[in-house]
Amino acid sequence: PVQHLADYRPWPFTLSQTRLDVTLAPRDTVVLTELDLEPSDQPVDLVLDGGAGLRLQSLRIDGLTVDPAHVLRDDETLTIRAAALPRVPFTLATDVRIDPQDNTAFEGLYLSGGIFCTQCEAEGFRHITFYPDRPDVMTTFRVTLRSDLPVLLSNGNPVRAQDGVAEWNDPWPKPAYLFALVAGDLVAVSDSFTTRSGRAVDLNVWVRPGDQDRAGFAMESLIASMRWDEDVYGREYDLDVFNIVAVDDFNMGAMENKGLNIFNSKLVLASPDTATDGDYERIEAVIAHEYFHNWTGNRITCRDWFQLCLKEGLTVFRDQQFTSDLRSAAVKRIEDVQTLRARQFREDQGPLAHPPRPDRYEEINNFYTATVYEKGAEVIGMLKRLVGDDGYARALDLYFDRHDGDAATIEDWLKVFEDATGRDLAQFKRWYTDAGTPVLTLQETWQDGTLTLHFTQQTPPTPGQPDKPARVIPIAVGLIGPNGDEVAPTRVLEMTEDRQSFSFEGLGARPVASVLRGCSAPVMLQRQMDDATRAFLLAHDTDPFARWEAGRELALSALTQLARGADAGDDYITAIGALAGDADADPAFRALCLNLPGEEEIATRLATTGTTPDPDAIQQARAGLARRIAMAHQDLLAELYDTMTVPGAYSPDADAAARRSLRIAALGLLGRIDGGDRAEVLFGIAGNMTERMAALAVLLRLGRGDSALRMLHDEFADNRLVMDKWFGIQVMAAPPSDAVAVAERLAARPDFDWKNPNRFRALLGGLAANHAGFHAADGSGYAFTADWLMRMDAVNPQIAARMSTAFETWPRYDAARRDHARNALERIASLAGLSRNTREMVSRMIAAG
Ligand code: ARG
Ligand code: ZN
Repeated sequence: PVQHLADYRPWPFTLSQTRLDVTLAPRDTVVLTELDLEPSDQPVDLVLDGGAGLRLQSLRIDGLTVDPAHVLRDDETLTIRAAALPRVPFTLATDVRIDPQDNTAFEGLYLSGGIFCTQCEAEGFRHITFYPDRPDVMTTFRVTLRSDLPVLLSNGNPVRAQDGVAEWNDPWPKPAYLFALVAGDLVAVSDSFTTRSGRAVDLNVWVRPGDQDRAGFAMESLIASMRWDEDVYGREYDLDVFNIVAVDDFNMGAMENKGLNIFNSKLVLASPDTATDGDYERIEAVIAHEYFHNWTGNRITCRDWFQLCLKEGLTVFRDQQFTSDLRSAAVKRIEDVQTLRARQFREDQGPLAHPPRPDRYEEINNFYTATVYEKGAEVIGMLKRLVGDDGYARALDLYFDRHDGDAATIEDWLKVFEDATGRDLAQFKRWYTDAGTPVLTLQETWQDGTLTLHFTQQTPPTPGQPDKPARVIPIAVGLIGPNGDEVAPTRVLEMTEDRQSFSFEGLGARPVASVLRGCSAPVMLQRQMDDATRAFLLAHDTDPFARWEAGRELALSALTQLARGADAGDDYITAIGALAGDADADPAFRALCLNLPGEEEIATRLATTGTTPDPDAIQQARAGLARRIAMAHQDLLAELYDTMTVPGAYSPDADAAARRSLRIAALGLLGRIDGGDRAEVLFGIAGNMTERMAALAVLLRLGRGDSALRMLHDEFADNRLVMDKWFGIQVMAAPPSDAVAVAERLAARPDFDWKNPNRFRALLGGLAANHAGFHAADGSGYAFTADWLMRMDAVNPQIAARMSTAFETWPRYDAARRDHARNALERIASLAGLSRNTREMVSRMIAAG
C-alpha cells in the first residue's frame, strides 16, 4: 500500500501515558502494556499497529477482557470496534509475548551478542507491542524491566534498580519511535556534565567488558557536543542521565532514543591501532548528531514520516557546523560536498530520485536517504545564506520557542523563518517538494569595465515530476583580478527566474569570476572555462572551496578526455604540483587537491555530458593520470611522504590527521611508480590504522597484499571492526578483473558472518565501491550482488533494500551491461516472498529502464 502525504489525519484518540512492564527472555519476552486513552467526540474504532509476530495473550479495558467479537486482527493491525470502547477515559492493557532471538531483521527488540536492545525508528515499536506507532502520538513513558542481566536501561531517569528489576521514568512526551531498552552484561566509561543552568548529568558509554579502553573518544565527543549545543544554539540537556550503548548488530549508524542513544559499535569504539582518522572523525560527528537530535528530533519531532528531513536535514546541518567549528571549516565543507555529489547527486540523477520531503512512499525505511539527510542539510545551508546569520539565529530561537513539544512539519519550519525575517519563502519551498539537481549554466560578457554573468537554470525530469519550475538559487560570487588579487569579495546573487543576469560594474581589467563559492547551492554548474583559467583559480581563489573546485574541474577535464581515448594536457599536473608544494596551505587541503576524483565521479561526469561511461576505460584513465602525476612530482611526493610524519603519541586531532592525510596521498601516488616498496615498509612499522590501511590499499592494488593481509588477520582475528575493514578493503582495492572472484572467495569463509550488517556491508559495499569490478562486462558483479540481496532479504529486508542501491545507476551504462543489470533486478523482483522494502526499491529501479 502506498502512503500519501495528502492523506494525513490526526489520530482520533488522546494517549496521556504509556506504561510498559517487560520481562526479558530470548525466546519468550513478556510485554505488558498499559495505555491511558481518551476517546474523541465521535465514536470510532481504535486501530493499533502490531505485527504478526506479536502473540497476544490478553486484551483488557479497565480490567475487563474485551469481547473477542469486537476485536479484529490482520498482519499489521489490531482493531477494537467502537462499540466496545468506553465514551470516557479508559486504560487499555495488553499482554504480548515476543521472540527477540528470532529477530534477524534488527527492528523492534532483538539480541545482539547476548545484549537485548531495540531499534524502533521508523516503525519498530509495533514489533514490541500493539500501539499507535506514529510520530504525532507523543506521551510520557514509565518502564519496568525484569531480567537477571546486570545492566537494565531505558529512556528518561532511573527511578529504582534492585534484584533484577529496574524502573525508568521519562517525563518528556515522546513518540514510540524514540523508545529504547537495553539489557546486558555491559560496563561503562563514565563522566559527568553540568549544564549551563546547573543540572548535573551522569554520562555513560556502555560497552562489552574488555572494550572500555576504546570508548574514551566517544565520551570526549559527547561532552564536546553538549557544550557546543549550549554555546551555539542555547540548547541544554534535560534529564539526569545520558546513556550511550554500543552494539555489534545495527542496521544503520546510530539512534537518538531519548536519553538512551544506541550505536553501531563501529561509531563508538576507537583506538589508534584499530580505527582510522576517518573513523575518529565520523565517531565525533555521529555522537554529536545523535546528541543534537535531543532538541531537533526529540523535543521537536515530526508530524509524520514525510517530514523526516525536518529532523534529519537540520540535525545533519548542525553536526556539520559542529565539525567545522572543531576542525577545519574549509576541509569539512569540501568533504561534505564530495559526499553530497557521490551519494545525493547520484540518487537525484537516477531512478530513485525523490524530493527531500517526498509525498508518497511504500516503505519509509527506504527513505533514510542522502536526499533526506544530506540535501536536507544543504537546503538549510541555503536558507541560512539567504537570511543571514542573525536571521537564522532568530528563526531557530523562534522554532524552539514555538514548537517545543510539537510534532511539526516543513510548513512550520518555513513559517518560523518567514515570521522571524519577513521573507516570503513560497518559491524557496520547492527545494523541499521538487526532486532533481538543477543544472546552472553560466555565460559571461565583458564590456566597458562591466562583467555580466548570465545564468540559466533547468532541472531535468525525475520519476513522477516531469516539469520543474525555477527555484531560488543563492549564488555566492567573488572576482579575482588578472594579477591574482580579489577585486570583489563574496556577494550572494539571488537567482529566482529561469534565466537571469547580474552585472559587476566599474572594473579596470577583466577579472575571473569565482562562482558558487562554498558550494552555495546543491546544483551542477556548467561553464565554459579553459584549463589555464581553472589553473589560475586553483592558484589564486581566496575561497577554499572554489579553489579546490577549480582543481577538481581541471582533473575531471583531463580524466574525461583520457577516458574518451583522447589526450590530456599537463595543466592539472603542473598546477597540482604547485599546490602540493605550498607549505603555507593546510596539509589536509593539499591532500584533498591531490586525491583524484573517483571512478564513479568520472562516470557521472561522462554520463551528464552525453558519453556512455566505460568502466574499464575510466579505471585506466585514472590510473594513468595518477602515474603521470607521480612521475612528474616524484621528488616532491617523496619529500612529503618523509616529512609529513607526526611525532609523538597518536592523536586524532585535525592537525595530526591533516598531516597523515597528505602523507598517505603522497604514498598512494608514489605506489604507482615505486612498486609498492614504501607501502610494504609502512604497513609493517606504522603504529596507527590510518597509515596501515592506506598502505594495504596500495599493496592490494598492486596484487602484493597477501602477507600484509595475513599479518592483519593474525593480529585482529578477534576484533570484528578490524575484520570488517579486512573484508572490505580486499574487495574494494582488488584489481577490477579480480574483484568478483575475491568477493566470492571471501563470502565462502566461515567468518563471513553475513547476518551481521557491518560484515555484509563490508563485502557487498566493497564490491559496489569497486566501480569497474562491480560493473564487470560479463555481469558477474551484478549476479553476485543479486544472489546475496535475495538471500539477505529473507533475513533482514532493511539491509537488502539499502544495498540494492548498488544498482541505482544502471540505466547509464552500455546495452550489454544494461541487459545484465536488468536481468539481475528482475531476478530479485521475481523472488517469492520478497519484502516490501526490497520490492519497492527494485521496482522503482526497473521502471527506469
Ligand atoms: N534517526 C537515526 C539517525 O539519523 C536513523 C535511524 C533510522 N533507522 C532506520 N531503520 N530507518 O541518526
Ligand atoms: Zn539523524
